[in-house]
Amino acid sequence: MGLSDYLKHAARRVDEYIYSFVTGTPKELYEASLHLIRAGGKRVRPALALLSSRLVGGSEEDALPAAAALELIHVFTLIHDDIMDRDDYRRGVPTVHRVWGEPMAITAGDLLFAKAFESASRLLERGIEPGRVVEAMRVLAKAASTVAEGQALDMMFEERWDVTVDEYMDMIYRKTGALIEASARVGGLSGGASSEEVEALGEYGWRVGVAFQIRDDILGIYGSGEKLGKPVYSDLREGKKTLLIIYAMQHLDDEGREFLKRVVGNPNASQEEYRRAAELIREAGALDHAMERAKKLVDEAKKSLSRVDARDEEAKEILVELADFIVRREY
Ligand code: IPE
Ligand code: IPE
Ligand code: MG
Ligand code: MG
Repeated sequence: MGLSDYLKHAARRVDEYIYSFVTGTPKELYEASLHLIRAGGKRVRPALALLSSRLVGGSEEDALPAAAALELIHVFTLIHDDIMDRDDYRRGVPTVHRVWGEPMAITAGDLLFAKAFESASRLLERGIEPGRVVEAMRVLAKAASTVAEGQALDMMFEERWDVTVDEYMDMIYRKTGALIEASARVGGLSGGASSEEVEALGEYGWRVGVAFQIRDDILGIYGSGEKLGKPVYSDLREGKKTLLIIYAMQHLDDEGREFLKRVVGNPNASQEEYRRAAELIREAGALDHAMERAKKLVDEAKKSLSRVDARDEEAKEILVELADFIVRREY
C-alpha cells in the first residue's frame, strides 16, 4: 500500500472510532464538534501513530484510541486557530465559528480536547500496559500545552518585525512540531517500543512536523486555496512572521522592506498588494530557502527513523514516503 491509500485507510479506521464515541447532546454542540472531521483532512497525525505502532511490532488496533486522540486534539486546535486567525474556510467548508458562532466553536474545541483524553484512556481496554497508557497520556498533555505556547507566540509575533529565524523555528516546533512528535511517540508507546525507540520516533516526528509547518507557510502564500481547502494570503493579512517573511526582510532592499511593512499585517491592503508582496518574497529567494530548510529536516527525519529496527517493512516504507510527501504536498 502506498501513502495515499494508507491515509485513506487510516481515515476510515479512525473516523469510525471517533463517530462511535463522540456522541451526545445538545445536538448543536456535537454537530459543531464533528463538522471538520466530516469535511475531510489528511489524517496525517493518526496515520503516523498507527504506523509507528506497527513499525515497532504492535498492531493498528493497539494504537487506535491514541490515533483518535491525536486527531481530536488536532481538530480542537484547528477550530480555535480559525477563530484566532479570523479564517472563514477550512477543509473546504466554512469554519466552525462561521457556522455556529464563536462561543459554540470555543465550546466544541473544549469538548474535543476532553474527548481526546477519554479516548487515550481507552488504550487500557486494548490491553496496553497501564504504565504505557499513563506515559502516552502524559505525552499528549505535554504536546497540548506546547501547542498553546506556540499559538501564543504565533500571535505575539504578529506585533513584531524583529522576529529571528531561531524564534520562528522554536514557535513552529511548539505550535505544529510537538503534536506530530507526540503522534509518533504515542504510536510507539502503544506498540511496545523501547525508550530508545520512542526517542528516535519522537525525533523523526518533530523534524517532519517542523518541515510540515514550513511547507504550510509556503502553501499559505503560493498554494491554491481550492486544493488546500483554506484561504491563501491569510498569513500576510494577519502579519504572521513566517520564515518567508523573515528571510525576505533580511534580503530585500529598503524599498522592498518598506512595501512589506506597509502590506503585511494590514487587513485593508488589496489582493493586488498581497500578490505583489508574494512576488517580492519569492524574488528575495525566500521560497527556495524555505524549501531547502524543509528538505534538510526531512532528510534528518529519515535518519532518525532508520535508528528503529523495523518489525514491519511496509510501515517503514510508508513512514519514509510520509516524510517525503511533507515537502512536496500541494494540500
Ligand atoms: C493544518 O494541519 C494545521 C497545521 C499544523 C499546518 P493539516 O495540514 O494536517 O490539516 P488537515 O488535518 O489535513 O486539515
Ligand atoms: C497551525 O496553525 C497550528 C495549529 C493549528 C495549532 P496555522 O494557523 O499556521 O495553520 P493554518 O494555515 O491555519 O492551517
Ligand atoms: Mg494560526
Ligand atoms: Mg491558521
